[in-house]
Parts: sequence; structure tokens; C-alpha cells
Amino acid sequence: MPAVMSRFGKAALSGVQRLGLKSMVPQSRFIAAVDPVIARAREMQKMTYDAAKEGEVKAPNYVGWDKEIDDDFKKLTVGPVKGGRPYGKICDSALDLIGFTPMVRMSRFAKFFDVDCDLLAKVELFNAGGSVKDRIAKRMVEEAEKSGRIKPGDILIEATSGNTGVGLCLVSAIKGYKQIICLPQKMSGEKVNTMKCLGAEILRTPTEAAWDAEDSHIFLSARLAKDLGGHVLDQYKNAGNPLAHYDGTAEEIAEQCDGKLDYMIMSTGTGGTMTGVAKKLKELIPGVQVVGVDPYGSILAEPAHVNEKSNRTGQEKLTAYQVEGIGYDFIPTVLDREVVDHWVKTDDDEAFAMCRAIVRHEGLLIGGSCGSTVAGAYRFIKQNKLGKDKRCAVLLADSSRNYMSKFMDDGWMESNGFSMSKMNAAVFEKGEYDKLFHV
Ligand SMILES: Cc1ncc(COP(=O)(O)O)c(C=O)c1O
Repeated sequence: MPAVMSRFGKAALSGVQRLGLKSMVPQSRFIAAVDPVIARAREMQKMTYDAAKEGEVKAPNYVGWDKEIDDDFKKLTVGPVKGGRPYGKICDSALDLIGFTPMVRMSRFAKFFDVDCDLLAKVELFNAGGSVKDRIAKRMVEEAEKSGRIKPGDILIEATSGNTGVGLCLVSAIKGYKQIICLPQKMSGEKVNTMKCLGAEILRTPTEAAWDAEDSHIFLSARLAKDLGGHVLDQYKNAGNPLAHYDGTAEEIAEQCDGKLDYMIMSTGTGGTMTGVAKKLKELIPGVQVVGVDPYGSILAEPAHVNEKSNRTGQEKLTAYQVEGIGYDFIPTVLDREVVDHWVKTDDDEAFAMCRAIVRHEGLLIGGSCGSTVAGAYRFIKQNKLGKDKRCAVLLADSSRNYMSKFMDDGWMESNGFSMSKMNAAVFEKGEYDKLFHV
């Protein structure tokens, strides 16, 4: 058996054998050979699903938080993650630079926007891969290793909006897994380039595909896992996702706030951050309230009717929006909506204006979903007239690095219908944001 095949196990052979060995031979000395596993994955991405040839493949059945995940969650918790950022000594690898992120007081932003309450940000761009999702990538791989499900050399396949992908590619690069990422077309080129440089194979799927459609990123990951003998850790139903935040992120926030926090405000993708952070904070800080932010277009917020339509922009439920990483057209199993006390909906334009305002007023080089989170937080703070005696924290999930060619670029903004004169007014002229976005 050729060495390259033995690394990926017997299960990978069926698809790979069909390709023959030709694909392993370089065409010239400047063209690297394509790994047969990757060649097969690329071939499958181009093929329409055919049950007669591939056998039955089904998208997982995501049902929102249920007894099974609740049991797993309770069983696998390890208590507060220990260690902190090892700045005083030499780190063993970038894996040591995941977690233990800083919190920053957003007082300059608060002054410009006349926010009276104490506004704090948990800044997740300081994780090694640049987002909050590094935490779950590390935890899901560690759990799978602990249970004996995977070992270095195996193929990992994940459907993601990019940040979980970057986290997994980073962990895989360090630990020696072969990583394939199934990614909707909408997600930024910066995320794709980062994952490619980390050694992963990226397969794009149509943005408009419903999550369980045969051309979706989730369905493709299930097909590839079956054909290649790979493992989908599946952030949508893996207890390691919320646990990374329950044992990690939330413990850090409670400690950094000295146990004083009135509102925790987060946006929701898989819901792992929301569920894990909210559950632990509610145990540690009695009375803390949790606010969820969901973009128009998505259906995660409750009650269901709030998702129907944005009265200001007309964005309807289950229609495409630009902000990446948050909102879905199904309820992931790791999302426990019981933990959310209030939901706020946001539109793309206010989110991108808010991103630019955070960059301008706080110097925090944050990503697109952070604009949604803070736009939602701002609306909530103003509507509820939160005063000096209240403390609110927002979780800022990723970095501007992912969006240099998107909301950070004036040309991209204009060509996607976001007027830069309006954006600049909202960011630089006091009071304009409220008028433009009806706060
Ligand atoms: C940019 C960004 N923000 C927020 C989130 C939401 O995190 P979660 O999946 O834990 O809900 C994600 C998830 O991928 C993300 O990529």
C-alpha cells in the first residue's frame, strides 16, 4: 500500500482507488502532486449527489438543545480551564495562545454614543487564529482524541462559515491532521487564504443552499466523511463547542469583571458561545441577564415573529445578508435558547457602520459580526435606558483581518449598496447613527 494511502486508513481507499495513481505524479517539477484524498474530495464537490453510487447520505438532524446534548455537556465539563496566558515564559506552540483573551472598557465609544452604562468588550481577536472559534476547535479535537475517535494523521472535515475552519486548520496544522473545509461562497477570501496557508483544502458551496440541501456545505461534509473515511467533529452538535465557553470564556469573563455584570450581550451562529457563556455566567453571577443578537434574514431569535422582516430595510426572513458567521436557517443542537433573556435583531447596514465606529473610536480591529453585536447592544442599552449603575459586556468574536477586502474597503461597501457618505456620517458625526438607523 502506498505510504500516502496508509496514512488515511482503509476507509479512504474506495474513493481514492477510483482515481488511480496518476494524480500522485507531478506534471512538472514545479507543480506539487495532488494528494489522492484531496483529488477525490474535489471530484465529489463537482458531482451532484447520487444515492445509487454513494449510498444514503443524510444531513444531521439538528433539533436545538435536547437531553442527549445536555447529558454530554454535563458529563464532559472539566471545570475552569487553568493556566492563563503564558507571557512570562516561552510557549510550546500557538495552541497555548488560545483563550485568556483581554477585556477592554469601551469608554471612548461610550462617550461618542452617549452610553451611560459601563460598557466592556471581551476581545476574541487575540486568540491565535484570530477568533472566538479557536477555542472550540481546540476543545473539539481534544475531546475526540480523548475518546479515541481520532488520532493524528486522520482526515477531519468541517462545514463552517470560516472561523471554526481557521481554528481547526490551525489545530490540525500543529497536531498533524488532514483538514478539509466546506465553506459557503459568501465567506471572505481572507478566511480562505488563511486556511489554505494552514495547509487545508477548501471546498466552496452555494451561499443560497438551504442547510440540509444536497448542495449545502453541511451535506457535502457528510458525503465526504462517508467516502473518504473522515471525521466530522460537527460544531453544530458537538458538546465540546459550548463547553469551551462554559469552562473557558465565561470563567474568564466572571473573573475579569470581579463577578459584577448586569448584561452579557452576544451574537449567535451555532450558538455555542451563547449557550456556554450564558449557562456558566448565570451560575456564577446571580441576576445577570443575557441578550442575544440575530441578523435579519436568520430565524434564531424568539419569539418567531420578530424574524419575519426588518421594517426599516425590508430584509425578510430566510433571505441572504452580508454579515458572516452569525444567524442560521435552522436551530443548531448546541443552541439552548432557554438561556437567552432578550433578543435583538440587526441589519447589515447598521452592523457595518458600527464596525467602523468601533475601529474609529476604540482602535479595536474587530470583524463584521462584532458590528452586529454592538449595534444590538446599543439598541438594547438605549431602549432600556441603562444608566451608570449598570455594567454590560459584549463579546467581539473576530478580527478585521478577515474582512480587509469587505466592510473595511470603501469600494466594496459602495458596490454592495452601503453608501459611504452615510457610513461616514454615522461614524464621525455625533447623533447621525441614531437618525440613520432609527435608534
Ligand atoms: C465572526 C463570527 N461571529 C460570531 C460567531 C458565532 O459564534 P457561535 O457559533 O459560537 O454562535 C461566529 C461563528 O462562526 C463567527 O464566525
